[in-house]
Amino acid sequence: MGDRVKTAADLRSARWFAPDDLRSFGHRSRLMQLGYAEEDFRDKPVIGILNTWSELNSCHAHFRERAQDVKRGVFQAGGFAVELPSLSVDESFTKPTSMLYRNMLAMETEEMIRSHPLDGVVLMGGCDKTTPGLVMGAISAGVPMIYLPAGPMLRGHYAGKILGSGSDAWKYWDERRAGNISDEEWLGVQGGIARSAGTCMTMGTASTMTAITDAMGLTLPGASSIPAVDSGHQRMGSACGRRIVEMVWEDLTPDRIVTEASVRNAAIVAMATGCSTNAVVHLIAMARRAGIDLTLDDLDALGRVTPLIANVRPSGKDYLMEDFFQAGGLRALMKQIEDRLDGSVLTVTGRSLSDNLEGAEVYNDDVIRPLSNPVYQEGSLAVLRGNLSPDGAIIKPAACDPKFHVHEGPALVFDSYPEMKKAVDDESLQVTPDHVMVLRNAGPQGGPGFPEWGMLPIPKALIKQGHRDMLRISDARMSGTSYGACVLHVAPESHVGGPLALLKTGDTVRLDLPARRLDMLVDEDELARRRAEWTPPQPHYQRGYGYMFQRHVTQADKGCDFNFLEAGFGHAADEPDI
Ligand code: FES
Ligand code: MG
Repeated sequence: MGDRVKTAADLRSARWFAPDDLRSFGHRSRLMQLGYAEEDFRDKPVIGILNTWSELNSCHAHFRERAQDVKRGVFQAGGFAVELPSLSVDESFTKPTSMLYRNMLAMETEEMIRSHPLDGVVLMGGCDKTTPGLVMGAISAGVPMIYLPAGPMLRGHYAGKILGSGSDAWKYWDERRAGNISDEEWLGVQGGIARSAGTCMTMGTASTMTAITDAMGLTLPGASSIPAVDSGHQRMGSACGRRIVEMVWEDLTPDRIVTEASVRNAAIVAMATGCSTNAVVHLIAMARRAGIDLTLDDLDALGRVTPLIANVRPSGKDYLMEDFFQAGGLRALMKQIEDRLDGSVLTVTGRSLSDNLEGAEVYNDDVIRPLSNPVYQEGSLAVLRGNLSPDGAIIKPAACDPKFHVHEGPALVFDSYPEMKKAVDDESLQVTPDHVMVLRNAGPQGGPGFPEWGMLPIPKALIKQGHRDMLRISDARMSGTSYGACVLHVAPESHVGGPLALLKTGDTVRLDLPARRLDMLVDEDELARRRAEWTPPQPHYQRGYGYMFQRHVTQADKGCDFNFLEAGFGHAADEPDI
């Protein structure tokens, strides 16, 4: 633990509650209206519990109860806890895509902290975009913070088979499209795949992002691996409450934790876990809030040298997050690669990462593999450049059939999702397994909001012939639970005139993964001619949040934050002393 460096008079909340003036009288009388006496809040760190609970966020179904655990901890440690409902950007119900609202949550988080008498915050999130949204906003707000990850849900099962979130939904859906699954089985899978509160229990975006936050030192050590409904999760909640009060006295602010070294640690851990492709966008955005210019090339370089050692679906074959927890969890995984990490970095515990890893052990080395027996020799992600993606594109080599690592084939191009959907369901579609399916206008601006459409469905004609993978390219993202030979995040996106906009059906496309290249084999003159003919599509929004989004969102390789929220844009207004 660090030393106390703050006194009660130094607390940010003292500006609201301490002075003997009319405004402070108002603030104090309103806390008394809530039933609190002066001794409940005077001279105490005020801790905001930012709770993304909602009845349309099944992953956070336990958060009302968990907030009480956090409160208990805050009060025990001599703090004063207030719960603040926050935008619950949920993955399952939000249309057109939750990604449209990640930045809205980040803005809300930052402004809610800034405008209220808060000395420190516990951020309660977990479902995909809530982690980066909350963390981005809190980094910008700058008060001490701890991240409380929702934790994965229990394993799914049906008829004796284990089911994994997302991954098995896609798999069973393909079998249903092939006519191999009865209605009864399909309903059984529907009822068995999500059995408890908690986030998707594959190594999808939720588990990846909470692992990244853990590795960055922003959660209590190993908190990201604890299943949502495990009683250990409740204890972790109250421990967050106790620790955040100390962090306020120690003035342990996020800028001391989110550094170049801790971001690098987080990227290495992400690669070793078999991370979701979404990690790239979010990690870059989080880093840029802290003024760290993490690039796609940095991530590719780390990917080349970091073996994937978490045998968790979808990149791993056999296990789910509950198994990962029982095998030792993230601390055990980090222990395996400790010599690749900078162990000296400071974490929310007030101690170094190495201190936090002391005693961590692997209890099942098939789930958390030793470096001598990885799931995949290289890391989870690779970055591709070429005349189709001059600013980069992403692929997850471990999750695709190796025969596509070097592939050349004719493009089959779709301009919109509905157009593609109609075509893939048409059994007379002229398509071979060598074709390269392409979807464009699905990026940050084109989608709009960068939807998870990137695992383009295999045409029914090929499914019936027994094919389950083919090379697919888009400027979309894909769910962290998806798999297959899918090239994603093509930047710049076609909507803003990226070269993907110039591709035509029948052009030859070439992927060379070992060389990290993605090209269309079309000559320069022809491309210039097509560019001259290209007209930009109409913007999606004429008003509202979407209008702001389309004006300010950055491209995939820059993290899709709003440009005016990045650290380099300028500083926030000084807090007026009123
Ligand atoms: Fe919430 Fe997957 S839907 S984590
Ligand atoms: Mg997801």
